[in-house]
Amino acid sequence: MRIVLFGPPGAGKGTQAKRLCDRHDLKHISTGDLLRGAIRKDTEVGREAKKHINDGALVPDDLVWELARQALSEQNNDNFIVDGFPRTVTQAEWLDAYLEGRGKPVSAVISFEIDPEQVINRLSMRRVHARTGANYHLDYNPPPPDVREEDLIQRDDDRPEAIRRRLEVYKNQTEPVKHYYERKGLLSCIESIGSIDEVSERIERVLRREDVLRK
Ligand code: AP5
Repeated sequence: MRIVLFGPPGAGKGTQAKRLCDRHDLKHISTGDLLRGAIRKDTEVGREAKKHINDGALVPDDLVWELARQALSEQNNDNFIVDGFPRTVTQAEWLDAYLEGRGKPVSAVISFEIDPEQVINRLSMRRVHARTGANYHLDYNPPPPDVREEDLIQRDDDRPEAIRRRLEVYKNQTEPVKHYYERKGLLSCIESIGSIDEVSERIERVLRREDVLRK
């Protein structure tokens, strides 16, 4: 199965992607993680991406596609989750053409629905473990006691002005992707509010209802 997790920044896509991967033995492809990896390695793509990410803007389609296509081509099984990609209709068309060309099209798109106020809280209270990349929320998903405070960092794009810009970009550039997949009959929406377990259960229900696990 090939599942796209779609939704605004901070909706909980990364948190749920990790759970789904553990539960169903799927690979996780996150373009945000790929881009941050390129920044850490100080590659040409990483240096260019950094300017856009820290401003809360989208990285140009061709740069993101270079990383996403590479990650997709390295998948030797056809069961994976794509998180944070596609974020423009152009990216969606490229992804679909690539997967359809391999005879393994997108099985389902799950859209995380949440209002912007909650997103602002989630992102401003998010902390990331510097070494493992694990994501926490200081109130709702606190780090375990053995994690030291000095090992937790705040992402540069989780500053209030970058969060506002990311929400604006989502509305203007990314939301059309939702309608694109709705027209293709692949979209299921879930409320991304309540506890992390409750959101996971809603996703599992969609997977069962749409029989995605066997696609
Ligand atoms: P990316 O890393 O993809 O960021 P994002 O989509 O903005 O998503 P986030 O990681 O901020 O949030 P999330 O939905 O994964 O939520 P999470 O689970 O962490 O992209 C970063 C940047 O890279 C983009 O802005 C762009 O510049 C660039 N980029 C990436 N892909 C691109 C593309 N395809 N094209 C162009 N540019 C691209 O949860 C958030 C917080 O909430 C955490 O603290 C978590 O613990 C907490 N939480 C989760 N669920 C719950 C819950 N149910 N209740 C309470 N708290 C919760």
